[in-house]
Amino acid sequence: MKTLDTPFLKKLRCICDMSTSCAALTLINIGEIRYMFNRKTLFRRNKTTNSSGKSIPIDPVKSKWLDRFSEPQTGHAIDAEQAYNQSMEEAKVFSENGLFQKNDVFLDLGSGNGRQAIGLLEYGIKKYVGIEPVKESVEFSRRTFSDYLQCEFIWLNLKNDQYNPTGTINPLEMRIPFEDGYFDAAIAGSLFTHLGSLDVCEHYLGEIHRALKTGGRLFCTWFRNPPNALSDDHKRSVFKEADIITMSTKYFTVYHTYGGMSDQFHDQWCLYCRK
Ligand SMILES: C[S@@+](CC[C@H](N)C(=O)[O-])C[C@H]1O[C@@H](n2cnc3c(N)ncnc32)[C@H](O)[C@@H]1O
Repeated sequence: MKTLDTPFLKKLRCICDMSTSCAALTLINIGEIRYMFNRKTLFRRNKTTNSSGKSIPIDPVKSKWLDRFSEPQTGHAIDAEQAYNQSMEEAKVFSENGLFQKNDVFLDLGSGNGRQAIGLLEYGIKKYVGIEPVKESVEFSRRTFSDYLQCEFIWLNLKNDQYNPTGTINPLEMRIPFEDGYFDAAIAGSLFTHLGSLDVCEHYLGEIHRALKTGGRLFCTWFRNPPNALSDDHKRSVFKEADIITMSTKYFTVYHTYGGMSDQFHDQWCLYCRK
């Protein structure tokens, strides 16, 4: 069959090519906009509502973190407003209780989605390392804090029946991948409450002790018995108060404690320890 290649058809083909390119460019642009949207650089929330529903301006620091944490999260997911408020408040309490100082090198073991880095970064720590077994949480944290070059998020494929049931590393063999005495301070917020056995907790305390410098500080939280019923469930691990004290004082001086007086889910026993 004869091919019709008239000037008209050439023009038509050219228009079609152009529209395909335009469509491709449009898709690229949509991709870029979505990327910017995901990176929270396009729109930034600058208003919130107060308790009586009135719209009020929010400060740019808060707005930045609200945007970053509004992306869907896996693992220990947390609402953006809560992530920001709790992290800022906790960092203030940590600082008041002598846990860390500006320019500290900081370890967050069981870092979840990295929410506790918010307050610490705003206070001006020198370096933050988060270690976490949920891969998606580590990926979320890496994206969310990608412009904070002092942050590092490490994935260790540790087994945990609740958070990472297919993990291949036995927690009894967990090693913090840093040299002895690398860190000034560490937190293990709501970590020992999910480790299941005393053996694992003791191994973790030993590893944290090794990775901290002399005088280094640790904040950790526990469910103690009493007032809670003993449990080796990874969803809510509860140990005898006497065992927690024996284990902790094997490695650290416990210099401050509070909380954990009831069996309410969020009422954890908070220990401040020094090496
Ligand atoms: C309740 S969340 C707390 C997360 C974070 N610390 C926070 O306060 O937002 C407990 C975290 O510990 C992590 N985790 C569970 N088993 C662990 C293990 N064996 N070693 C280290 N982290 C673990 C979980 O994946 C989860 O992110």
